[in-house]
Amino acid sequence: MYYSYVLEGMGKGKPMNPSFALTLAVSNVICVVVFGHRFSTEDETFHQLMEAMEPIFKFASSTTHFMEDQPKPAYDESNMIQSIFDLFLGGTETSSTTLYWTLLYMVLYPDVQAKVQKEIDAVVAPDQMICYEDRKNLPYTNAVIHECQRFSNIIAVGLPRLCVKDTMIRQFSIKRGTVIFPNIASALHDPKEWETPLQFNPGHFLDKDGNFTCPEAFIPFSLGQRVCLGENLAKTEMFLFFSNLLQAFTFHLAEGTKDVNTKPIWGGTLQPHYFEICATPR
Ligand code: HEM
Repeated sequence: MYYSYVLEGMGKGKPMNPSFALTLAVSNVICVVVFGHRFSTEDETFHQLMEAMEPIFKFASSTTHFMEDQPKPAYDESNMIQSIFDLFLGGTETSSTTLYWTLLYMVLYPDVQAKVQKEIDAVVAPDQMICYEDRKNLPYTNAVIHECQRFSNIIAVGLPRLCVKDTMIRQFSIKRGTVIFPNIASALHDPKEWETPLQFNPGHFLDKDGNFTCPEAFIPFSLGQRVCLGENLAKTEMFLFFSNLLQAFTFHLAEGTKDVNTKPIWGGTLQPHYFEICATPR
Protein backbone atom coordinates (compact mmCIF):
# COMPACT_ATOMS: atom_id res chain seq x y z
CA MET A 1 0.00 0.00 0.00
CA TYR A 2 1.34 3.42 -0.94
CA TYR A 3 0.28 5.04 2.27
CA SER A 4 2.47 2.59 4.17
CA TYR A 5 5.29 5.05 3.36
CA VAL A 6 3.48 7.73 5.29
CA LEU A 7 2.68 5.30 8.06
CA GLU A 8 6.32 4.25 8.33
CA GLY A 9 7.45 7.86 8.67
CA MET A 10 4.89 8.59 11.33
CA GLY A 11 3.75 6.93 14.46
CA LYS A 12 6.88 7.47 16.48
CA GLY A 13 5.02 10.18 18.38
CA LYS A 14 7.91 12.60 17.80
CA PRO A 15 7.51 16.00 16.16
CA MET A 16 7.95 15.84 12.40
CA ASN A 17 6.93 17.70 9.30
CA PRO A 18 4.72 15.41 7.18
CA SER A 19 5.19 17.19 3.85
CA PHE A 20 7.95 15.08 2.28
CA ALA A 21 6.48 11.73 3.36
CA LEU A 22 3.09 12.73 1.94
CA THR A 23 4.64 13.90 -1.32
CA LEU A 24 6.60 10.67 -1.84
CA ALA A 25 3.57 8.52 -1.05
CA VAL A 26 1.20 10.44 -3.34
CA SER A 27 3.76 10.76 -6.13
CA ASN A 28 4.36 7.03 -6.24
CA VAL A 29 0.72 6.53 -7.29
CA ILE A 30 1.16 8.63 -10.43
CA CYS A 31 4.67 7.19 -11.00
CA VAL A 32 3.11 3.77 -11.46
CA VAL A 33 0.74 5.27 -14.05
CA VAL A 34 3.25 7.28 -16.07
CA PHE A 35 6.51 5.37 -15.60
CA GLY A 36 5.12 1.91 -14.81
CA HIS A 37 7.43 1.99 -11.83
CA ARG A 38 7.23 2.82 -8.18
CA PHE A 39 10.27 4.22 -6.38
CA SER A 40 11.72 3.22 -3.06
CA THR A 41 11.37 6.08 -0.59
CA GLU A 42 15.16 6.05 -0.24
CA ASP A 43 15.76 6.34 -4.00
CA GLU A 44 18.01 9.35 -4.70
CA THR A 45 16.58 9.88 -8.20
CA PHE A 46 13.09 10.07 -6.72
CA HIS A 47 14.26 12.67 -4.22
CA GLN A 48 15.92 14.67 -6.99
CA LEU A 49 12.71 14.62 -9.04
CA MET A 50 10.77 15.96 -6.05
CA GLU A 51 13.33 18.69 -5.44
CA ALA A 52 13.33 19.65 -9.12
CA MET A 53 9.55 20.07 -9.02
CA GLU A 54 9.50 22.32 -6.01
CA PRO A 55 10.49 25.61 -7.71
CA ILE A 56 7.91 25.11 -10.44
CA PHE A 57 5.09 25.30 -7.92
CA LYS A 58 6.75 27.72 -5.55
CA PHE A 59 7.55 30.43 -8.04
CA ALA A 60 5.57 29.84 -11.19
CA SER A 61 3.52 27.31 -13.03
CA SER A 62 4.80 25.93 -16.29
CA THR A 63 2.70 28.15 -18.53
CA THR A 64 4.67 28.24 -21.75
CA HIS A 65 3.11 25.14 -23.27
CA PHE A 66 -0.41 26.45 -22.66
CA MET A 67 0.27 29.50 -24.81
CA GLU A 68 1.13 27.82 -28.11
CA ASP A 69 -0.76 29.51 -30.91
CA GLN A 70 -0.73 26.46 -33.14
CA PRO A 71 -1.05 23.25 -31.17
CA LYS A 72 1.11 20.57 -32.80
CA PRO A 73 -1.22 18.11 -34.52
CA ALA A 74 1.05 15.08 -34.32
CA TYR A 75 1.65 13.03 -31.23
CA ASP A 76 5.41 13.33 -31.29
CA GLU A 77 8.13 12.70 -28.75
CA SER A 78 8.16 16.25 -27.44
CA ASN A 79 4.44 16.35 -26.62
CA MET A 80 4.64 12.85 -25.19
CA ILE A 81 7.35 14.08 -22.80
CA GLN A 82 5.22 17.13 -21.99
CA SER A 83 2.20 14.89 -21.29
CA ILE A 84 4.21 12.67 -18.95
CA PHE A 85 5.54 15.77 -17.25
CA ASP A 86 2.00 17.21 -16.84
CA LEU A 87 0.69 13.99 -15.32
CA PHE A 88 3.68 13.58 -13.04
CA LEU A 89 3.55 17.19 -11.89
CA GLY A 90 -0.25 17.37 -11.62
CA GLY A 91 -0.40 14.00 -9.93
CA THR A 92 2.16 14.75 -7.24
CA GLU A 93 2.00 18.25 -5.89
CA THR A 94 -1.73 18.91 -5.76
CA SER A 95 -3.02 15.92 -3.79
CA SER A 96 -0.05 15.91 -1.41
CA THR A 97 -0.41 19.65 -0.68
CA THR A 98 -4.12 19.16 0.04
CA LEU A 99 -3.27 16.32 2.42
CA TYR A 100 -0.62 18.48 4.04
CA TRP A 101 -3.27 21.15 4.76
CA THR A 102 -5.67 18.44 5.90
CA LEU A 103 -3.29 17.24 8.62
CA LEU A 104 -2.77 20.83 9.71
CA TYR A 105 -6.52 21.36 10.05
CA MET A 106 -6.82 18.14 12.07
CA VAL A 107 -4.35 19.38 14.68
CA LEU A 108 -6.01 22.79 14.74
CA TYR A 109 -9.53 21.33 15.05
CA PRO A 110 -9.07 18.30 17.34
CA ASP A 111 -12.83 18.02 17.91
CA VAL A 112 -13.27 17.46 14.16
CA GLN A 113 -10.47 14.89 14.18
CA ALA A 114 -12.09 13.06 17.11
CA LYS A 115 -15.45 13.01 15.35
CA VAL A 116 -13.90 11.53 12.20
CA GLN A 117 -12.19 8.83 14.26
CA LYS A 118 -15.42 8.04 16.08
CA GLU A 119 -17.24 7.60 12.77
CA ILE A 120 -14.46 5.42 11.34
CA ASP A 121 -14.35 3.24 14.47
CA ALA A 122 -18.10 2.69 14.28
CA VAL A 123 -18.00 1.57 10.65
CA VAL A 124 -14.64 -0.15 10.02
CA ALA A 125 -12.96 -2.79 12.17
CA PRO A 126 -9.63 -1.53 13.60
CA ASP A 127 -7.56 -4.15 11.77
CA GLN A 128 -9.28 -3.49 8.45
CA MET A 129 -7.93 -1.07 5.82
CA ILE A 130 -10.46 1.50 4.71
CA CYS A 131 -11.35 1.28 1.02
CA TYR A 132 -12.91 3.88 -1.28
CA GLU A 133 -16.33 2.20 -1.17
CA ASP A 134 -16.43 2.84 2.59
CA ARG A 135 -16.89 6.57 1.97
CA LYS A 136 -20.59 5.91 1.47
CA ASN A 137 -20.82 4.88 5.12
CA LEU A 138 -18.49 7.65 6.30
CA PRO A 139 -20.37 10.86 5.42
CA TYR A 140 -18.73 13.01 8.09
CA THR A 141 -15.22 11.85 7.12
CA ASN A 142 -16.01 12.54 3.49
CA ALA A 143 -17.40 15.97 4.38
CA VAL A 144 -14.24 16.84 6.34
CA ILE A 145 -11.99 15.96 3.39
CA HIS A 146 -14.10 18.10 1.05
CA GLU A 147 -14.09 20.98 3.51
CA CYS A 148 -10.30 20.74 3.86
CA GLN A 149 -10.05 20.97 0.11
CA ARG A 150 -12.49 23.88 -0.13
CA PHE A 151 -10.91 25.77 2.73
CA SER A 152 -7.28 25.27 1.64
CA ASN A 153 -8.21 26.30 -1.90
CA ILE A 154 -4.78 25.26 -3.17
CA ILE A 155 -5.37 26.34 -6.78
CA ALA A 156 -6.99 29.71 -6.13
CA VAL A 157 -6.47 30.76 -9.74
CA GLY A 158 -6.77 28.06 -12.39
CA LEU A 159 -4.49 27.37 -15.32
CA PRO A 160 -4.28 29.91 -18.13
CA ARG A 161 -6.53 29.06 -21.08
CA LEU A 162 -6.70 30.65 -24.51
CA CYS A 163 -10.12 31.69 -25.80
CA VAL A 164 -10.41 30.07 -29.26
CA LYS A 165 -13.34 32.16 -30.59
CA ASP A 166 -15.13 35.41 -29.78
CA THR A 167 -17.40 34.57 -26.84
CA MET A 168 -20.06 36.31 -24.74
CA ILE A 169 -20.34 35.30 -21.09
CA ARG A 170 -23.22 37.18 -19.53
CA GLN A 171 -22.52 40.82 -20.44
CA PHE A 172 -18.81 40.26 -21.04
CA SER A 173 -17.37 40.01 -24.51
CA ILE A 174 -14.20 37.90 -24.61
CA LYS A 175 -12.19 38.21 -27.81
CA ARG A 176 -10.55 35.24 -29.51
CA GLY A 177 -6.96 34.93 -28.33
CA THR A 178 -7.64 36.34 -24.86
CA VAL A 179 -5.86 34.47 -22.06
CA ILE A 180 -8.30 33.53 -19.29
CA PHE A 181 -7.43 32.67 -15.70
CA PRO A 182 -10.45 31.11 -13.92
CA ASN A 183 -10.94 32.50 -10.43
CA ILE A 184 -11.63 29.26 -8.58
CA ALA A 185 -11.39 30.90 -5.15
CA SER A 186 -14.35 33.14 -5.99
CA ALA A 187 -16.55 30.02 -6.12
CA LEU A 188 -14.99 28.17 -3.18
CA HIS A 189 -15.37 31.21 -0.91
CA ASP A 190 -18.55 32.68 -2.38
CA PRO A 191 -20.69 34.06 0.49
CA LYS A 192 -23.84 33.34 -1.55
CA GLU A 193 -22.99 29.64 -1.76
CA TRP A 194 -21.44 28.79 1.61
CA GLU A 195 -22.85 29.37 5.06
CA THR A 196 -19.49 30.39 6.56
CA PRO A 197 -17.17 30.76 3.54
CA LEU A 198 -14.12 31.93 5.47
CA GLN A 199 -14.46 29.45 8.33
CA PHE A 200 -13.56 25.78 8.48
CA ASN A 201 -16.95 24.09 8.63
CA PRO A 202 -17.49 20.44 7.53
CA GLY A 203 -21.24 21.18 7.76
CA HIS A 204 -20.92 22.75 4.30
CA PHE A 205 -20.95 19.20 2.93
CA LEU A 206 -23.68 17.69 5.12
CA ASP A 207 -27.42 17.96 4.76
CA LYS A 208 -29.72 18.38 7.76
CA ASP A 209 -29.82 14.58 8.27
CA GLY A 210 -26.02 14.27 8.30
CA ASN A 211 -25.82 12.82 4.78
CA PHE A 212 -22.93 13.83 2.55
CA THR A 213 -23.87 16.45 -0.03
CA CYS A 214 -21.66 18.35 -2.47
CA PRO A 215 -22.74 21.90 -3.42
CA GLU A 216 -22.30 22.93 -7.07
CA ALA A 217 -19.91 25.71 -6.10
CA PHE A 218 -17.34 23.10 -5.04
CA ILE A 219 -15.06 23.35 -8.08
CA PRO A 220 -11.44 22.89 -6.87
CA PHE A 221 -10.78 20.86 -10.04
CA SER A 222 -12.33 23.58 -12.19
CA LEU A 223 -15.00 22.38 -14.64
CA GLY A 224 -15.95 22.07 -18.29
CA GLN A 225 -13.98 20.45 -21.07
CA ARG A 226 -10.61 21.15 -19.46
CA VAL A 227 -11.59 20.02 -15.98
CA CYS A 228 -8.69 18.38 -14.12
CA LEU A 229 -8.25 14.96 -15.66
CA GLY A 230 -6.92 13.62 -12.38
CA GLU A 231 -10.05 14.55 -10.40
CA ASN A 232 -11.18 11.00 -9.67
CA LEU A 233 -7.67 9.79 -8.89
CA ALA A 234 -7.13 12.74 -6.54
CA LYS A 235 -10.44 12.17 -4.73
CA THR A 236 -9.63 8.50 -4.26
CA GLU A 237 -6.12 9.23 -3.00
CA MET A 238 -7.23 11.90 -0.58
CA PHE A 239 -9.98 9.76 0.90
CA LEU A 240 -7.74 6.69 1.29
CA PHE A 241 -4.74 8.50 2.73
CA PHE A 242 -6.77 10.66 5.07
CA SER A 243 -9.13 8.03 6.44
CA ASN A 244 -6.44 5.37 6.89
CA LEU A 245 -4.10 7.83 8.59
CA LEU A 246 -6.79 8.92 11.01
CA GLN A 247 -7.77 5.34 11.70
CA ALA A 248 -4.16 4.56 12.67
CA PHE A 249 -3.03 7.80 14.37
CA THR A 250 -4.10 10.80 16.35
CA PHE A 251 -2.31 13.94 15.21
CA HIS A 252 -1.44 16.80 17.49
CA LEU A 253 0.84 19.81 17.54
CA ALA A 254 4.35 19.33 18.85
CA GLU A 255 4.65 20.27 22.51
CA GLY A 256 5.44 23.93 23.04
CA THR A 257 4.05 25.01 19.66
CA LYS A 258 2.17 28.22 20.26
CA ASP A 259 1.20 29.86 17.03
CA VAL A 260 0.63 28.18 13.72
CA ASN A 261 0.56 30.39 10.69
CA THR A 262 -2.49 29.29 8.68
CA LYS A 263 -2.03 31.87 5.94
CA PRO A 264 -0.94 30.27 2.66
CA ILE A 265 2.36 30.85 0.91
CA TRP A 266 1.47 32.03 -2.58
CA GLY A 267 2.79 30.16 -5.62
CA GLY A 268 1.49 27.76 -8.27
CA THR A 269 -0.30 26.06 -5.38
CA LEU A 270 -1.08 27.65 -2.01
CA GLN A 271 1.22 25.96 0.50
CA PRO A 272 1.06 25.92 4.31
CA HIS A 273 3.95 27.42 6.23
CA TYR A 274 6.32 24.85 7.73
CA PHE A 275 4.87 23.11 10.79
CA GLU A 276 5.62 20.06 12.88
CA ILE A 277 3.12 17.61 14.25
CA CYS A 278 3.20 14.39 16.25
CA ALA A 279 1.41 11.21 15.24
CA THR A 280 0.41 9.02 18.16
CA PRO A 281 -0.62 5.45 17.28
CA ARG A 282 -4.20 4.77 18.36
C1 HEM B 1 -6.24 17.88 -5.08
C2 HEM B 1 -5.80 17.50 -6.23
C3 HEM B 1 -5.93 18.28 -7.52
C4 HEM B 1 -6.44 19.52 -7.76
C5 HEM B 1 -7.01 20.52 -6.77
C6 HEM B 1 -6.33 19.75 -9.19
C7 HEM B 1 -6.78 20.89 -9.83
C8 HEM B 1 -6.67 21.13 -11.19
C9 HEM B 1 -7.14 22.31 -11.86
C10 HEM B 1 -7.86 23.47 -11.21
C11 HEM B 1 -6.85 22.18 -13.17
C12 HEM B 1 -7.13 23.20 -14.28
C13 HEM B 1 -8.40 22.87 -15.03
C14 HEM B 1 -8.77 23.98 -16.00
O1 HEM B 1 -7.89 24.61 -16.57
O2 HEM B 1 -9.96 24.24 -16.17
C15 HEM B 1 -6.16 20.92 -13.34
C16 HEM B 1 -5.69 20.44 -14.53
C17 HEM B 1 -4.99 19.27 -14.66
N1 HEM B 1 -4.75 18.33 -13.69
FE1 HEM B 1 -5.32 18.45 -11.75
N2 HEM B 1 -5.75 18.66 -9.77
C18 HEM B 1 -5.51 17.73 -8.80
C19 HEM B 1 -4.97 16.47 -8.97
C20 HEM B 1 -4.49 15.97 -10.15
C21 HEM B 1 -3.95 14.65 -10.35
C22 HEM B 1 -3.87 13.56 -9.27
C23 HEM B 1 -3.53 14.58 -11.64
C24 HEM B 1 -2.87 13.40 -12.32
C25 HEM B 1 -3.45 12.52 -12.99
C26 HEM B 1 -3.84 15.85 -12.27
C27 HEM B 1 -3.56 16.17 -13.59
C28 HEM B 1 -4.00 17.31 -14.23
C29 HEM B 1 -3.73 17.61 -15.62
C30 HEM B 1 -2.94 16.76 -16.60
C31 HEM B 1 -4.37 18.83 -15.89
C32 HEM B 1 -4.43 19.57 -17.24
C33 HEM B 1 -5.72 19.11 -17.94
C34 HEM B 1 -5.89 19.79 -19.29
O3 HEM B 1 -5.11 20.64 -19.66
O4 HEM B 1 -6.88 19.46 -19.97
N3 HEM B 1 -4.42 16.66 -11.35
N4 HEM B 1 -6.08 20.28 -12.11
